[in-house]
Amino acid sequence: MRYRVPHERIASLKEFTIRWIQRRLQYADFWALEGVSFTLPRGEVLGIIGPNGAGKSTLLKVVARVLQPTRGRIRTRGSVAPLLELGPGFHPELTGRENVFLNSAMLGRPRSETQRLYEEIVDFAGLWDFIDAPLRTYSSGMVARLGFAVATCTVADILIIDEVLSVGDTQFREKCFDRIRSFQSHGASILLVSHNMTTIQNMCSQVIWLSQGRVRGFGPAEEVIQQYRDSAEVPAPS
Ligand SMILES: Nc1ncnc2c1ncn2[C@@H]1O[C@H](COP(=O)(O)OP(=O)(O)O)[C@@H](O)[C@H]1O
Ligand SMILES: [Mg+2]
Repeated sequence: MRYRVPHERIASLKEFTIRWIQRRLQYADFWALEGVSFTLPRGEVLGIIGPNGAGKSTLLKVVARVLQPTRGRIRTRGSVAPLLELGPGFHPELTGRENVFLNSAMLGRPRSETQRLYEEIVDFAGLWDFIDAPLRTYSSGMVARLGFAVATCTVADILIIDEVLSVGDTQFREKCFDRIRSFQSHGASILLVSHNMTTIQNMCSQVIWLSQGRVRGFGPAEEVIQQYRDSAEVPAPS
């Protein structure tokens, strides 16, 4: 996956268009992922670890098809429920309720189905008291609760989780883990990014260690976590 980062700030669409026509747009190419390849079997949880900027979120976005890879391809079988870094699928000015419907629609659910699942979603998120307030008044933990509840109220074949568990409180995290395990017992495959090595160790069978867009380690969780800890990349055990 290559990102193109503009060399200079372009202030307006007009200026952008003029430069584009004149072919005066300058970019720096940046390979956020290079030569990454893996297979995730049904019913397995794959952990992805690595320092900030390693390419973890980029990898999840590529699998979720939010980004199209510059080269190579992704093959997925079945439905994908992505829980990415907050942003896509949420609107700060809409209420929690409206965001449930927006988010659910983006996962491909018809409105009638979301209607049917609505109570269960808000119950799981534990947000009845805030559900009619605009999302911008929510804490990041509350947004994460809502996102997790929407994404996991039906079982998908592939669940993608980017760090969202780290902002929730302990009690909610436990609920999330239970849900992830029940997904797994239904044969779903899970991709999990976390900086919490205990979480990774408990949940994942296999782990990919990414560093500067490349795979530095891939194998059984315990082994790869140990390699990662032994490297200079991880400051202190968490
Ligand atoms: N939209 C983008 N445009 C340009 N560069 C990006 C973009 N998104 C991420 N990057 C860069 O790609 C690298 C990997 O980012 P990311 O996948 O978010 O890392 P991680 O999730 O492991 O912290 C970082 O160096 C980041 O600056
Ligand atoms: Mg990230």
